[in-house]
Amino acid sequence: MKLADNKATLSFSNGSPSVELPVYKGTVGPDVIDIRKLYAQTGMFTYDPGFLSTAATQSSITYIDGDKGELLYRGYPIEQLATSCDFMETCHLLLYGDLPNADQKTKFTRTVTMHTMVNEQMQFFLRGFRRDAHPMAIMTGLVGALSAFYHDSTDINNPEHREIAAIRLIAKMPTLVAMAYKYSAGQPYMYPKNDLSYAGNFMRMMFATPCEDYHVSPVIERALDRIFILHADHEQNASTSTVRLCGSSGTNPFAAIAAGVACLWGPAHGGANEACLNMLEDIQKMGGVAKVGEFMEKVKDKNSGVRLMGFGHRVYKNYDPRAKLMQETCKEVLQELGLQNDPLFKLAMALEKIALEDEYFVSRKLYPNVDFYSGIVQRAIGIPVSLFTAIFALARTVGWIAQLNEMIADPEYKIGRPRQLFSGSTQRDVKPLAQR
Ligand code: CMC
Repeated sequence: MKLADNKATLSFSNGSPSVELPVYKGTVGPDVIDIRKLYAQTGMFTYDPGFLSTAATQSSITYIDGDKGELLYRGYPIEQLATSCDFMETCHLLLYGDLPNADQKTKFTRTVTMHTMVNEQMQFFLRGFRRDAHPMAIMTGLVGALSAFYHDSTDINNPEHREIAAIRLIAKMPTLVAMAYKYSAGQPYMYPKNDLSYAGNFMRMMFATPCEDYHVSPVIERALDRIFILHADHEQNASTSTVRLCGSSGTNPFAAIAAGVACLWGPAHGGANEACLNMLEDIQKMGGVAKVGEFMEKVKDKNSGVRLMGFGHRVYKNYDPRAKLMQETCKEVLQELGLQNDPLFKLAMALEKIALEDEYFVSRKLYPNVDFYSGIVQRAIGIPVSLFTAIFALARTVGWIAQLNEMIADPEYKIGRPRQLFSGSTQRDVKPLAQR
């Protein structure tokens, strides 16, 4: 870390001696005040629920400028990656720090492809779930269960174990998501087919049956690949921080990623794509575009508890760059499938237009996020709504792994152990049961 020219001075109104705190500069973005010695120097903690002003780590993977609406993976703008690269190149970039050359790409893709199969026992584990189990419940279980199948890659302190666990997780996630879907649909599992692309193979495992040949549509394949790229990493979001915190205890990579899957499930995070599509379908049932105004009044009424799903973001106070790319993809996919007049897409555009002009949204800097259009694309492709967040988990796995491996390789890494401001009862004595 590079020291800044200035230092921060913390002074107290009660005359306690002031404390000087070092300030560090990143390559871009806000400086940080180093408070690591604050407790030793003052006996005080800092208080920041929700991490509104706290950098929990240093990282060189992903950079977001929320005011500009900018997203960079290892310095490359998301717009360039989404238009000039594929998901395998993006995985290589996130994991190893740079885009692969042609040979590296072939080798990396081959390595991932050679790990797409899962242990055959996995299907018996899956069979323990109810057929109507939510796919994220299944995925939390299946990803955690990988640690019971791949004992040779569970030592997080061994770089070779970390490497093979990374490849296995990236390679097997599509297989597991597709298995979860096939199980719920009561269809036979489709084994991976290694001459297809990562996205093409996933589509085949999802939509093919052993009875028919399956043709992968290049437009849909590309759209899915773009969805994967756009969701691949997003710096220290809730699920990534969960993976880091979980992994900081030294647990195995599969367990740490399972924790990330569990966190992603929530509607304020990855579950927003499912919640957003359900919201659009509800408005459609109420009367569609004609009811948008009425719905917006509910959103603005703080007592209603209704939020415009797919809108707002902790970091972006401008248009989420992923939402723009997703809107483009949405148009392409609907065109390809002859669904240009898709009522949900029209509804989403109407909601977006009103929200972008409404004082409530403008003053709070609420813009569409990645989830606003991703559900419409996935639904058009034929992916069931309940599977949307599992697709997000599939794509985010590389980001989680890259962040986890970065943490473990960082000499400054320690087990994560937040502190608290205690507001409960002070010490008291237990009374005998009859006197309570
Ligand atoms: N609809 C209506 N009002 C909103 C919304 C929304 N979607 N999002 C934020 N607000 C309001 C909120 O009520 C608050 O108003 P006030 O200042 O009057 O109390 C203000 O905007 C700030 O909101 P916040 O909840 O303090 O902001 P946050 O940074 O804690 O929350 C968020 C960020 C993403 C959880 C929130 O915007 C939200 O719930 N959005 C809907 C869910 C969603 O789309 N999540 C996907 C995020 S992107 C993908 C991912 O990260 O997984």
